[in-house]
Formats: sequence, structure tokens, C-alpha cells
Amino acid sequence: MTLAISISGKGGTGKTTITALILKTLLEHTDKTILVIDADPASNLPDVLGVQVDTTVGDVVEELKEKTERGELMSLPPELFEAYVYETIVETERFDLVVMGRTESKGCYCYVNAVLRQIMQTLSRNYDIVLIDCEAGLEHIQRRVDQDVDVLIVVTDSSRMGINTAKKIVELARKMGYRATRIGILGNLGADARLVVDIASEVGAEPLGVVPLDENVRKFNLEGRSLLELPSDSPAYQAVKTVCERLGLI
Ligand SMILES: Nc1ncnc2c1ncn2[C@@H]1O[C@H](COP(=O)(O)OP(=O)(O)O)[C@@H](O)[C@H]1O
Ligand SMILES: [Mg+2]
Repeated sequence: MTLAISISGKGGTGKTTITALILKTLLEHTDKTILVIDADPASNLPDVLGVQVDTTVGDVVEELKEKTERGELMSLPPELFEAYVYETIVETERFDLVVMGRTESKGCYCYVNAVLRQIMQTLSRNYDIVLIDCEAGLEHIQRRVDQDVDVLIVVTDSSRMGINTAKKIVELARKMGYRATRIGILGNLGADARLVVDIASEVGAEPLGVVPLDENVRKFNLEGRSLLELPSDSPAYQAVKTVCERLGLI
């Protein structure tokens, strides 16, 4: 059985950082097969992980759309789309990574999104764990990008916008019928444990704790180094490891 986890929240709250540190925890403490999905159109997860990605799913969508418009392709059978999308998956030694990029540039992409969701579901089945670094804000919920995940990790800082976004994500996920068995609030960038408990109890989510400000994370970011190489005694990594234990991931 695949366990799918999404990481969401307002922009800049640390979604990508936390996704990378969850991945690091899983790599160091399990031998599970992992697919990481960068679902943020303002993608930077590959950089944070130190992986080079040349083609995104959005590039493939654009290419196929242009081919259809030029008449080179009469229709877009799902199998063809699927084959193209599979080609964008980057395989590293220990995990696979797929970057969505911009998949909804203009016009109605309902068909593309439906097929894409289907592909993601089929693709996900090949892995023990799927980690999704979501687009900032509520868009991913409205587009039901992570509707089939088992665990929803909603990240917040201590700002009003961060907190409101986190609450709205939880409320909207429920309203949209998300089937996640666990929905948790995780504090980062100065949000304290008390705040996380308050937010969580207000929306009926699980308080997952806090990730402290970590000088190493800041330094690695500035130097463009992969967070997978962050020293294991770094406070942010230790905190994320505790969250993973709490969620039964390790
Ligand atoms: N716990 C932390 N300690 C220090 N810096 C952090 C921490 N979490 C995030 N950051 C920094 O904050 C910025 C935003 O984080 P990022 O993960 O890119 O947010 P998001 O993906 O939500 O937009 C980045 O520069 C990142 O290095
Ligand atoms: Mg990000």
C-alpha cells in the first residue's frame, strides 16, 4: 500500500524545506521506495534536493497542446500522455522525482488535469511513499491536486496570513471531501508549540509540533547546497524526524 503525504501552507512558510527534510529522514531511516512530486508551479524543490530536472510535466503538456493545435496530433490518447509524463520522472539512486511545473497556462485544461490526476494515481502505486510539495495557498485544494493523500501536513509560520491559510486549507480539504486519515498542523519559522496547538484545536486537526529556525538550513540555502546533506544534528532535521516518528513513518 502506498502512503501519500502532502505538504501545504502559505508561500514561504517552509513547505519545500520540510518536504526535503522528511525525504532525508525517510532515506536515512527506512528503505522505502519514494516518489517526490514538486507540485508547486514556482518549483524549487529540485534545487533544494540538488537534483537536476530538465523537463517538467507542464513542458510535456505544452508540447502536446502545440502539436494538437498544429494538427500533428489529431487527439490526445491517455496512453500517449502517460508515456510522455513518465519520461519526465528523474530517477536518483534512492528516490524518484517528478516536477509538475506549470500545467495550467491558459484555456480549459480540465481534460489534461483529469488525465494527469489519473496518471499520478497509477504512478503512485509503484512506490511505498509519495511526498507532494504543494503549490502555495489554497490552489492545490481547489484543483484537488492532493485529494487522495493519506496525510495532510499543513505548515504555518506565526504570521496572520500563514495561520489563516493553514486554517482555510484544513477547512477546505474537509469541505471538498478529502479522505486523508491524518491532517496535521506543523509550525515553522518561529511559530511556537502553543500557537500550533491552538490552531489545530480550532480546526480539529492534529498538532504536529514545531520546526525551529535553523542556522544550517539558512546557510545551506544561501550556498545552494542540498538539504539532504544537512548535518544530522541540525535542529530542524531533528524536529522533522520527531514529526515523522509521530506520524509512524519511521
Ligand atoms: N526551519 C528553518 N530554519 C531556517 N530557515 C528556514 C527554515 N524553514 C524554511 N527556511 C527558509 O525560509 C525560506 C522559505 O522556505 P521554503 O521551504 O522555500 O518555503 P515554501 O516552500 O513554503 O515557499 C527559505 O529561504 C528557507 O531556506
Ligand atoms: Mg516551496
